[in-house]
Amino acid sequence: MTTTSPLDWHAAFSGRAQLMKASTIRELLKLTQQPDIISFAGGLPAPELFPLDAVKQASATVIEKYGAASVQYGTTEGHLPLREWIAAQTPGITPAHVQITTGSQQGLDLLGKVLITPGDVMAVEEPTYMGALQAFQPYEPRYVGLPMDEEGIIVDALRDILQTERVKVLYTIPNFQNPTGRTMSLARRQALVELTAQHGVIVLEDDPYGKLRFSGELLPSLYELGLQYHGGDADANHVVYSSSFSKTLVPGLRDAWVQGARPIINKLVQAKQGADLHTPIFNQMIVTELLADVLPRQIEIVKAAYGARAQDMMARMREHFPAGAEYTTPDGGMFLWVTLPDGVNTTDLLPLAVERKVAYVPGTPFYANGGGENTLRLSYSNARTEQIERGIAALGATIRDALQ
Ligand SMILES: Cc1ncc(COP(=O)(O)O)c(C=O)c1O
Repeated sequence: MTTTSPLDWHAAFSGRAQLMKASTIRELLKLTQQPDIISFAGGLPAPELFPLDAVKQASATVIEKYGAASVQYGTTEGHLPLREWIAAQTPGITPAHVQITTGSQQGLDLLGKVLITPGDVMAVEEPTYMGALQAFQPYEPRYVGLPMDEEGIIVDALRDILQTERVKVLYTIPNFQNPTGRTMSLARRQALVELTAQHGVIVLEDDPYGKLRFSGELLPSLYELGLQYHGGDADANHVVYSSSFSKTLVPGLRDAWVQGARPIINKLVQAKQGADLHTPIFNQMIVTELLADVLPRQIEIVKAAYGARAQDMMARMREHFPAGAEYTTPDGGMFLWVTLPDGVNTTDLLPLAVERKVAYVPGTPFYANGGGENTLRLSYSNARTEQIERGIAALGATIRDALQ
C-alpha cells in the first residue's frame, strides 16, 4: 500500500522562485479596493479615455485585411509593419534593432534574463519602479542605489560609485519617473551617457511615459544621445531603450518594444522564443492600425487630462498639506512623490489614511536596498476633480494628525 503525503511545494520551488516574494504592499493595498475608498495608489491609466470605438473598428479591419494570418502564429521579432514604424521614429535604426514585447514588463524580465548573472552589479535609481525590481530579482543582481535630486540621477555620485564598483547594467526611467514623477535634465542625460560609455556600463532606458509630457520641453532620449555619442552607429549604442503602448493607447493589448544594438536584440529573440514564442499577432496588428491617426490624437487627449489632474492635485496639496510635507512637480506622466518629515512612517500611516477613505502607495518597496520610510507615491491619472478634492483633503488631515 502506498501512502500519499502532501507534496511540500515550498521545498520544491527553485532558488529563483524562492526569491519571488508576495509583496506586503500589494496585500495592504487590497484594503484600498473597497468602492468607497479614493485610491491614488494604483498606477492605472484613465479607462474613460480609452479609444474603444477605434479599437473595435481596428479589430474588424485587421480580420478583413489579414484573415487567418491575424490569428496564426507570428514571428518572435514581431509584426514587421509595427517594427518598421517604431524604427522610423529614430533616424539610423532599422526593424532589426526592434523587438516587440508583451508589455515593457516582459522586456524587463527578458533583459534581466539575458544580461544578469547572479552577483552582477546593477545600478538603479533610488527610488525606482518596483515592477522592475520584481522582474530583475530572480536573476540575482546586487543592487547599488543611485541618489537622485530634482534633475534625476546625480551623475557625480555615479562617478564616485564607479571608482569602486564594476557596474554592469544601469536601469533608469528618465521621463516622469515612476514613482517620483521626476525628469532627468539634459545636462545630466549627456553626462550620464558619456560616463556610462566610458565605463562600459549598459544603460537600460525605460520610457513608457515619454510621450505624455504636459509641460516643459521635449528632451532627447538617452538612446538618441547614445547614438550620437557612437557616431550614429546603432550597433555600437550602449543604451537599450524600451517603451510601450500601454500608457498612450491601452494597456490590455500588452504591446511594447525594446530597441537596441543587434547583438542584444538577437539574444532577446532567443529568450522570448522560450517565454511566449511571440506577442499576440492580432494585438500587434490592431496597434499598427491605430498608429497613424488614433495614437497622435490619443496622446493629446491623455496629456491634457493628466496635466489638468496633476494641476488639480498640486493645488489641493498646497491647500491641505501641512508645512514639512514636500512633493515633486511632474511635467508629465502619472505620478508625484511626497516626502514627509523624518520619523513619519508612511506604511504605518496607510491604515489611518484608509480610515479616512483615501489610499496611496508607501515609498519603501520602490527602494532596492531599503529606505524611504517617510515617502509615498500618489497617482493622479485615474482621479477626477471631485475625488482629488476629497482625497487630498483627507490625506492632508491624516498627515497633520501624524505630525502632531
Ligand atoms: C516604469 C515602468 N516600466 C514598465 C511598466 C510596464 O508597462 P507595460 O508592461 O504595461 O508596458 C510600467 C507600468 O506601470 C512602468 O511604470
